Order: sequence, then structure tokens, then C-alpha cells
Amino acid sequence: MNKIIIAGASSGIGLALAEAFASRGVKVGVAARHLEPLLRLGDKYPGMVEAETMDITMPEAKAALMRLIKKMGGMDIYIHVAGIGSQNHSLDPELEVRMIDTDAAAFARMISCAYNYFRASGRSGRIAAVTSVAGTRGIGSMSAYSAAKACASTYLEALRQLARSSGVPVTITDIQPGWIRTPLLNEDKSYPLEMTVAQVVPLILRAIADGVPVAVIDWRWRIVKYLWRRLPSPLWTRMSGFGF
Ligand SMILES: NC(=O)c1ccc[n+]([C@@H]2O[C@H](COP(=O)([O-])OP(=O)(O)OC[C@H]3O[C@@H](n4cnc5c(N)ncnc54)[C@H](OP(=O)(O)O)[C@@H]3O)[C@@H](O)[C@H]2O)c1
Repeated sequence: MNKIIIAGASSGIGLALAEAFASRGVKVGVAARHLEPLLRLGDKYPGMVEAETMDITMPEAKAALMRLIKKMGGMDIYIHVAGIGSQNHSLDPELEVRMIDTDAAAFARMISCAYNYFRASGRSGRIAAVTSVAGTRGIGSMSAYSAAKACASTYLEALRQLARSSGVPVTITDIQPGWIRTPLLNEDKSYPLEMTVAQVVPLILRAIADGVPVAVIDWRWRIVKYLWRRLPSPLWTRMSGFGF
């Protein structure tokens, strides 16, 4: 049976993924800063959940992941969902730094830690991480967020190459969703092509199971991403919309 660990499982997409596994009888290790929602999940699915407090922006997060791996008796799949995100129209420098710290620097900390675990253990494994279609281009109202997500996606691409050249048996999946209704979004606002957690969870599970290198979720966002990538810079500079 696969041993699955999810970082960022106290809310939104991560919580829904954890629930999907636990409800199917797959034991799951969950981590986040807030322990309460993780413990509630454990109460709902007795014996199916191991929990650990973890702040990925702190160096101690590596030890927390190793503790969770030990509690689980190993790890086959590491799913990284932990992240923050918001628009920053006023370009508050501290918010910019927090997003880069969490979505890029701490992302590299945790993904490298998971990769090194698979390399050291010699067991074949999977790393899946939720980045965003926002990483496709630099987005004016979300400068730090879009830059951090681009960094995260490039990091995963690099590790895929590294794993292949070093013979490390790890499959890496970059999950790039569009807008999903979770506590990350402004609850007073609606967003174009918005999806629900219930819609995206099966698509994410399928992408991880298939070991797809990059999964843009959903098909409508695949088209958006395709078009965005092809827009010449002068046109992109003039663009706004899509909730940005
Ligand atoms: N919702 C969207 O529209 C959307 C679209 C594309 C990509 N994404 C990405 O999907 C991921 C999950 O977002 P979501 O929509 O599910 O938001 P969410 O409901 O706010 O969940 C974010 C999760 O990340 C955890 N987290 C945040 N900072 C952390 C830290 N320093 N250490 C450990 N855990 C941390 C949170 O737990 P604690 O607060 O308990 O630590 C929570 O479990 C994010 O990376 C986000 O960028 C979201």
C-alpha cells in the first residue's frame, strides 16, 4: 500500500486530497502549521491519519517531515500543497517576501528533502507539487506569487532531469491549476473559470497516479496557458483580466 504524505493538508486542496485518500482506506501523513484540522481529520478517519506540525519556512520542517515519514513507516508519495497566495496591488514588500519565502524558498527546502529521502532510501517514489498556472507569465497584480510559482515549476523540471541523469527512481509531477474556490481566494469575489475542490481532486489524483510531468488543471486552463505562452511581450504587458 502506498504511503502518502501531504504537506499543507489543513485546508483547501491539501485537506481535500487527504480526505480523498483516508476515505478510500489509504493511510495518509498530513502536515501543516495548524494542528487542529489535522487532528479533526484523524478523528474522522480513525487509524488512517498521522499528523505533524510543520512550518515549511523554518529549517526544522525537514526534521518534521522525517518524523512523519517515520510515523508512516516510510514514504512512497510526497505531495506538496503548502503555499500562500494573494494579490498585492500595493506591492507591500513584506508580503512579497513572505510569498517568495513560502512558495519558492520553502518549496525548494521541502521538495529537496523529499527527493533526498528517495535517493537515500533507494525506493522508487513520487513527488507531486501544486504550483499554479500563474507561473506561466509574470502577472502584474501577483508579482511575487507568479514569480514564485514559476520558480517552483522550473525547480521541478530541473529535478526531473537530475533524477533521470542520476538514476534516482523518482517521478515528478507539477500540478498547475487555475482558480479553485478555497480559503486562499477572496470570498467576496468571483473568479473566471473558477473550479471547486470537488472538481479538481479527481484530476489531481489521476495526474499523480499517471505520473504526468506537468498537469494543467483543468482543460480550459490548458487552453488559457497555451494562449498566454504565445502572447508577445508587448501584448502581455497591456493585458489584464482573468481575475488578476
Ligand atoms: N486556490 C487556488 O485558486 C489555487 C490555484 C492554483 C494553485 N494554488 C496553490 O495550491 C496550494 C494550496 O492552496 P489552497 O487553495 O488549498 O489554499 P489554502 O486553503 O489556504 O491552503 C493552504 C495550505 O498550505 C498550508 N501552508 C501555508 N503556509 C504554510 C507553511 N508556512 N508551512 C506549512 N504549511 C503551510 C496551510 O496550512 P497552515 O496554514 O495550517 O500552515 C494550508 O494547509 C497553494 O500552493 C496555492 O498557491 C491554489
